[in-house]
Amino acid sequence: MAELEKLWDKRNKKATGKPIYDLWLDNYLSLLKEYKQEEIIDLGCGGGCASLYLTERGYKVLACDISKEALSNTKKYIPGIKTKQMNLIEDFPFENESYAIIIADLSLHYFTDQETIHIMKEIKRILKQNGILLARVHSTKNLNNETSLLEEVDKNLYRRGEELRRYFDQEDVEKYFSIIGKIAYQEKSLKRQDTEKEKIVFEIKCQRSK
Ligand SMILES: C[S@@+](CC[C@H](N)C(=O)[O-])C[C@H]1O[C@@H](n2cnc3c(N)ncnc32)[C@H](O)[C@@H]1O
Repeated sequence: MAELEKLWDKRNKKATGKPIYDLWLDNYLSLLKEYKQEEIIDLGCGGGCASLYLTERGYKVLACDISKEALSNTKKYIPGIKTKQMNLIEDFPFENESYAIIIADLSLHYFTDQETIHIMKEIKRILKQNGILLARVHSTKNLNNETSLLEEVDKNLYRRGEELRRYFDQEDVEKYFSIIGKIAYQEKSLKRQDTEKEKIVFEIKCQRSK
């Protein structure tokens, strides 16, 4: 965990300041409003975009990340929020079937095939029956814009410096997210105020099956 934590602390230190979120979760507000009493996990919360969006709308959030820098930025701008440091490639520190909603925004695409499968199984394990994962991951369509990519180490998995970065095509979305259950997904364009380039992402809603 130490090396990975250092790497992400370095990255998250550069991205401090009040989280600037886009409104992708607006699409799910009618679903989310059923869960006002439940704690929602923000997996790989980074500076706290989804956590801020949700707490501003009255939801209880547990913000999780490997990086203490990310968690302290999140706490700075969302006083009183609960946080947990965790490494997604280890077993998740939560009981079976303990959460109804998990958000994972742009945080599930740094992993090898086996790690990604492990993460999906762990999300399934901690989701309640019919629980929902809402996630976004980068599409392979962004590959055209990425000039600094170095080495393809597996299908759609690239090494850039110390970091691994996966780009998903439709087959990948179905392969990995179907481990959890029934999926619905769309490819969309994402442009946050704080980023220069528009990105293409898969937005995925995944309902846990038995
Ligand atoms: C691109 S940021 C996305 C942050 C935030 N969800 C957002 O949308 O702005 C990816 C986040 O995943 C976290 N992360 C990367 N690898 C991780 C791991 N193995 N375990 C837990 N978090 C991890 C990083 O620290 C980083 O904060």
